[in-house]
Amino acid sequence: MSNYHIKHLEEYYQVYRKSIREPENFWEEIAEEHFIWRKKWDKVLEWDFSKPEIKWFQGAQLNITENCLDRHLATRANKTAIIFEPNNPDEPAEHISYLQLYQRVNQFANVLKSKGIKKGDRVCIYVPMIPELAIATLACARIGAVHSVVFAGFSSTALATRINDCDCKLVVTADGSYRGAKTIDLKGIVDEALDSCPGVESVLVVKRIDSEITMKEGRDFWLQPLLDNASTEGEAEVMDAEDPLFILYTSGSTGQPKGMVHTTAGYMVYTAYTFKNVFQYREKDVYWCTADIGWITGHSYIVYGPLANGATTILFEGVPSYPDFGRFWEVIEKHKVNQFYTAPTAIRALAKQGPELVEKYDLSSLKVLGSVGEPINEEAWHWYNDNVGKRKSPIVDTWWQTETGGIMITPIPYVTPTRPTYATLPFIGIQPALMDATGTELKGNQVEGRLCIKFPWPSMARTIWGNHQRYKETYFSAYDGMYFTGDGALRDEVGYYRITGRVDDVIIVSGHNLGTAPIEDAINEHPAVAESAIVGFPHDVKGNALYGYVILKDFGETRDQDNLRKEINQIISEHIGPIAKLDKIQFTTGLPKTRSGKIMRRILRKIAHNDLSTLGDISTLLNPEVVEDITKNRLE
Ligand code: WT7
Repeated sequence: MSNYHIKHLEEYYQVYRKSIREPENFWEEIAEEHFIWRKKWDKVLEWDFSKPEIKWFQGAQLNITENCLDRHLATRANKTAIIFEPNNPDEPAEHISYLQLYQRVNQFANVLKSKGIKKGDRVCIYVPMIPELAIATLACARIGAVHSVVFAGFSSTALATRINDCDCKLVVTADGSYRGAKTIDLKGIVDEALDSCPGVESVLVVKRIDSEITMKEGRDFWLQPLLDNASTEGEAEVMDAEDPLFILYTSGSTGQPKGMVHTTAGYMVYTAYTFKNVFQYREKDVYWCTADIGWITGHSYIVYGPLANGATTILFEGVPSYPDFGRFWEVIEKHKVNQFYTAPTAIRALAKQGPELVEKYDLSSLKVLGSVGEPINEEAWHWYNDNVGKRKSPIVDTWWQTETGGIMITPIPYVTPTRPTYATLPFIGIQPALMDATGTELKGNQVEGRLCIKFPWPSMARTIWGNHQRYKETYFSAYDGMYFTGDGALRDEVGYYRITGRVDDVIIVSGHNLGTAPIEDAINEHPAVAESAIVGFPHDVKGNALYGYVILKDFGETRDQDNLRKEINQIISEHIGPIAKLDKIQFTTGLPKTRSGKIMRRILRKIAHNDLSTLGDISTLLNPEVVEDITKNRLE
């Protein structure tokens, strides 16, 4: 039992060493003692990073929802599982008990079945942050359907790409959504997407904003009447340990997003175990993660991790700025939140407002503060620590990825001494390695390199949907026998890790992982655009913002530049979503290229950073003359 909940640093080192020396025994014990299984495994781990093939708990059978719901009914039936806090603070919060959640998930699962959804079918969930989002997700898991949650801020094109990539048969959505003072016509976006999704047979629509929408006869169904007629009981499908649980898309270095596939048993074990320890969750605590369930953070640490531990988890529909920038603090006071998990971009936006709004509310319930999604800068760390945590709540700076399924490098609060901007130590079972440019592992401390992981952990993604080759090339080909994260990191004199940022073509904007390629593809669709390149530049709230260099076709040069900028951002919004809009667009006659035709992003990045002293040797470029031109016309 003691290994499940780590309470002091010595114990961390002890358990960590055990998890590295005897990984199979270690994970077997955790799996054995803290979860319910229909059948136990034959083998704990089988792996080969060269294929790559990773199997945890092979031969075991289970249903993750029995671990998140059924098993709590004996002791926690009336405990609140989910607190729904609506966008509008005047709308009452909803407390959903474990029993109610169990019943609502069964009803939803029965509706899915009545629409012909079976084990292995893919279901797309495009729903705002309302209880039905969590319920639909769990309902899929209950019947063995593979959920693909698409963040309900994505455009119709992005939605259609994701629906088609994994052949979803059914889409769950809402008539619309609230976002601060605005409403969004979600069903309209779905209708547009479905024009190019021939495989979708049915659409279930949650009524949220009561707007006028069109319902397509035979395809679209209001959810509520179906739920009202569905049974609150239902057998959970028996799943194999390695059956896919969900697909979640993340951007990569080509236009096609990567559908990361997570499987059942390992994902459950690791997300539950990390949740318990990283947030030091105790039975009566109220936990709040402000992410959207459309991202991995929400999957693992709003839904599965907390519910597997019988926790109370808040599901917040709103935004930090509505009705004013005190909303987060108001919600913490109102629900007496004990663990609060948010993103550096939100912290920076709130810090800009000054301390008055934070001081207005009673935040004394807080015990643990979390940060995720991008490196947290020193200033934001201190603001969070001083004003929100009052220097009493440790900050856990948690490093992980969509691909890793769960938290990988993090302090354990009240256990690991924290240090601003450091994610500190690997979590139990995680074996990081830093690699130099020649592919050699950098041993010892005070080294900096590319961050890899040497040994499998239970919640790692197993493949990219429909493209195992791409999975292998992206993650297992850069360094022999290692998972490559795409991040750079340093290890300091005591062995603490600090993530230094992406080393590939991914840019993190407001904590959202954006690939340059899909944005460039979108821009290039504009009829006046010949070519484009995107880089990131530092931004005081968003962390990074996007700077675009755009070459126009001849006739484009006669057009009004501000109008062109608007049109380009409009196209990006349509193809990807408003989060990918460019802050700066510079029109140029050329892009610096190597002789093999590769765009030299390093130079473009320096210019966008206004760091002109170290452009380096540009004489080997195909077209060194454009550098001067770009530099001269750069946007401040
Ligand atoms: C990338 C993964 C994992 C949930 C949210 C993002 C960056 C994430 C941190 C952190 C520094 C971080 C990395 C990573 N990142 N957390 N604590 N410190 N960087 O998931 O969209 O898959 O993005 O986010 O660059 O590779 P994601």
